[in-house]
Amino acid sequence: MENENRKLDKNELDLHIRVVESQVTEEEIIDKIIDSGRIEDAFYVCNVSDIVEKHKHWEHVLPRVQPHYAVKCNSHRLVLETLAALGTCFDCASEDEIRKVISLGVSADRIIYAHPTKKINHLRYAAEAGVTAMTFDSECELYKIKKYYPEAR
Ligand SMILES: Cc1ncc(COP(=O)(O)O)c(C=O)c1O
Repeated sequence: MENENRKLDKNELDLHIRVVESQVTEEEIIDKIIDSGRIEDAFYVCNVSDIVEKHKHWEHVLPRVQPHYAVKCNSHRLVLETLAALGTCFDCASEDEIRKVISLGVSADRIIYAHPTKKINHLRYAAEAGVTAMTFDSECELYKIKKYYPEAR
C-alpha cells in the first residue's frame, strides 16, 4: 500500500514512503522498482523500522552511552527525522550539517561539531547556534578553537 509520496526540497532525492507487508523481502521490493521501468537514476531502499530497532538495541546493550549519529553517513531527511524523534544526538562535520539538524528542531546540546580541521567560519556558526561540544586530536586545532570559540567544550 502506498502510504505517502512526497517531494522534498530540490537538494534531496525524491522520497517514496511505502508501507509493505512484513513478509515482503528487500529483493522483491528492489525487483518491483526495477520492473516498474520508471527509475532512471540510482536509488536505495531504506528500512526505517530497522533504524528504530537498531536504536532500541543500542539503548538496551549500551544504556550509559549516548549515540551521536554521524550525519555524513546518510543525511537523508527521513533518516535524520527518525533518529531525531528517537532522541539520538548528532555528529555534524560542517555548518551545513549543523543547520540541517537544527532545522529538524534538535537542540544545540544534542549536537557535537566533529571534524579534524574545522573551518573558522563554521566554528563561528557553531558558536552562533550554541553548539558547544566539539572534537580535536591535534594541538593546533585546540588553539584554533580557543582563539575563535573560547566557550567551546
Ligand atoms: C578530531 C577528529 N579527528 C578525526 C576524525 C576522523 O575520524 P574517522 O576517520 O574515524 O571518521 C574526526 C571525525 O569526526 C574528528 O572529529
